[in-house]
Amino acid sequence: MDLALLEKALLGLFAAIVLAIVVSKLTGKRFKLPPGPYPMPIVGNWLQVGDDLNHKNLMNMAKKFGEIFLLRMGVRNLVVVSSPDLAREVLHSQGVEFGSRTRNVVLDIFTGKGQDMVFTVYGDHWRKMRRIMTVPFFTNKVVQQNREGWEEEARLVIEDVKKDPRSSVEGIVIRKRLQLMMYNDMFRIMFNRRFESLEDPLFKKLTVLNAERSRLSQSFDYNYGDFIPILRPFMHKYLRQCYKLKDVRLKVFEDHFVKDRNRIDMDQKKEIKCAMDHILEAEQKGEINHDNVLYIVENINVAAIETTLWSIEWGIAELVNHPEIQKKVLREMESVLGPGVPVTEPDLPRLPYLQAVVKETLRLRMAIPLLVPHMNLSDAKLMGFDIPAESKILVNAWFLANDPKKWKNPEEFRPERFLEEEAKVEANGNDFRFIPFGVGRRSCPGIILALPIIGITLGRLVQAFELQPPPGQKKIDTTEKPGQFSNQIRTHATVVCMPRN
Ligand code: HEM
Repeated sequence: MDLALLEKALLGLFAAIVLAIVVSKLTGKRFKLPPGPYPMPIVGNWLQVGDDLNHKNLMNMAKKFGEIFLLRMGVRNLVVVSSPDLAREVLHSQGVEFGSRTRNVVLDIFTGKGQDMVFTVYGDHWRKMRRIMTVPFFTNKVVQQNREGWEEEARLVIEDVKKDPRSSVEGIVIRKRLQLMMYNDMFRIMFNRRFESLEDPLFKKLTVLNAERSRLSQSFDYNYGDFIPILRPFMHKYLRQCYKLKDVRLKVFEDHFVKDRNRIDMDQKKEIKCAMDHILEAEQKGEINHDNVLYIVENINVAAIETTLWSIEWGIAELVNHPEIQKKVLREMESVLGPGVPVTEPDLPRLPYLQAVVKETLRLRMAIPLLVPHMNLSDAKLMGFDIPAESKILVNAWFLANDPKKWKNPEEFRPERFLEEEAKVEANGNDFRFIPFGVGRRSCPGIILALPIIGITLGRLVQAFELQPPPGQKKIDTTEKPGQFSNQIRTHATVVCMPRN
């Protein structure tokens, strides 16, 4: 380590401590802040609460400090809300005030300081991006144009699994093949392209680059530089890695996908118009620039593919661990569609039990349990407390959907709840206890694609196979691996896929 730099940083840190104490005593605004653990100078609550602020740790803190509490993480204020009423306030009633996103130095790099849609602040740029992305990605027309493609991709998964002799004996890590399916589902929408196999070099490259993007942005390793800006010089190496990855990744999007689509002549485009054609038209009209185009591709790569895949993975794990539920799903499909008739997207409304399985998966195993952090650009109020400008607001959506005071035996995987006592609750946020896609302005526009893709995939797998744990195991291990934005299954499960006929 550079000793001169360390010496300067420590001196700076000392000066900052003294200055911070003096300034706060003399000029500090008299805020009525939400409750929370008592903060220390400079580091705030960071050393007390640690880095792992996952949904369960935050639930435990909510039990201690209440439905709204404040953590001071160095210079950052983190407000956690844990009740349906407060979720409504943040996401709906004061949706404009709390409609921005926090970024940090790392996310600034990966989003070109908010030139994307997911991490940009609430304002004109966000509105423009959401409008431009809606027609090519988030309408029922897109679902109707693409659903046969998704059904074909699910059929090919089943074909490949059947061809693999291990699948019905020791089992396979089915996630690997489903990952290819999800890339194909999304790249068909975006570029009218698909990857032939798991060995496709471009597919391999993309998965490595996207995984590295997730690892670097979700890591807790850089918190020190985010929370205590004076320590940022020590992040130099980390940030260099991020810049390098960002450049390589955007270049792959450009050279292998966007450029190709730009080259295809207009006549051909008229026949098969994909999302990128709409986006490039918006660029030609001068509504967005070329960087925005690339950040749209970046956003779909991070927001759409893994989230849906995690949910499918969780759904499979729960079906394996609950064979009686699996049987019930099968029986419903056989009686509604007829034996052996593969489920398609238009069938889903007639399959309430399958839909209840999807909802129960999203409830118990919520993929983004704290939503994507929100932020207030100006000072604001919640429940009579002052929320200083630029606070990071986490809505503990997982706790809202798993609170024993509000749900019957929430720890149980029981799809029947969505046909019985919770029959009116939908995944679109019509009830603030259940908001796996958020609600309001910054809610997930991809819900319209994600729900049918999950339904078709789980339905077809159950129609084709009896899904079982590997030999010698009674159940699949469902230990969670929570991160800054996600809740994944810790071990990608090996599943035995026993053909039904
Ligand atoms: C099961 C799958 C998915 C889950 C659980 C999920 C969940 C979420 C959540 C919780 C948010 C943040 C809501 C908030 O902060 O209030 C979000 C935002 C977003 N999602 Fe999804 N999502 C999924 C699939 C998708 C798909 C398939 C797409 C695109 C094709 C997509 C695109 C987006 C975008 C663009 C945003 C940012 C919206 C904004 O900031 O205005 N998501 N998603």
